Amino acid sequence: MPFSSDSDAAFDWDRIRKETFVRQTEFHATVDSTNSVALEGCETADLETPRLVLAGEQTAGRGRGANAWWSAPGALTFSLVIHPAHLGLTPQQWPMSSLTTGLAVCLALEETLSRDDVRLKWPNDVLVRGRKICGVLVEVGPRPTETLVIGIGVNINNSVRNAPDELRSTATAMIDETGIAVNRFEFLCRILRALELQITRLSSHDTSLAADWQSRCALIGRTVEVDTGSRRTTGVCQGIDEDGALAVLTESGPERLFGGVVTMINDE
Ligand code: BTN
Repeated sequence: MPFSSDSDAAFDWDRIRKETFVRQTEFHATVDSTNSVALEGCETADLETPRLVLAGEQTAGRGRGANAWWSAPGALTFSLVIHPAHLGLTPQQWPMSSLTTGLAVCLALEETLSRDDVRLKWPNDVLVRGRKICGVLVEVGPRPTETLVIGIGVNINNSVRNAPDELRSTATAMIDETGIAVNRFEFLCRILRALELQITRLSSHDTSLAADWQSRCALIGRTVEVDTGSRRTTGVCQGIDEDGALAVLTESGPERLFGGVVTMINDE
């Protein structure tokens, strides 16, 4: 089956299963949200993980909170269902899966783009030259399945020139960065290979993982406001620590934040 109606690659399921850690695949030419489909599939009896749910196009892509995810044709939008325990991840490490996924996407992008241009915006975005190119949405599967759904959206051949007004100045796509169409299938394989490696680093408590988050942290030195839902914290970001927390120096001292929506106050 072709990857999508504007296919730039024959989608090779066998290769995915041979060359990556994915064990099951599911393709939808059009679907509301791959995360929603993946969550529904967590309880199926024949579930083998990691399970890849890929969409040619999403009609109701979801972002964090009430945000929507712009998923025009040419984008790469997929979800992975994993059993974290099968990959050696403890429940304490589940919250770090978002950053770990973001790092995997950074590494995939860095195979084409300059490393200096690629940044991780804690806790779940990837930026290129300050513009958002990828969002990650991790959701916990229904009890008692002990599954996680890792949703990844990357703007690839969906140029932001055709995006809604509010995204045109804040988002970017691979095609906007390189000027040429990118093979999404190859890019998907890159992400999956990188993700397997980064999850292995996380599960084996690799102490250099945090250094890789830190060296790509888009927020270091910036004044940030972090809204955790119940509280707003303002201060200068010191980076990301080994527990995946955002370190912020506030007027009343250092704080570590484990989740929230970040706004950069001193945007140039
Ligand atoms: C965010 O930036 O807030 C997260 C965006 C996550 C988007 C991806 S696209 C594939 C998967 N399916 C969804 O509905 N959302 C995620």
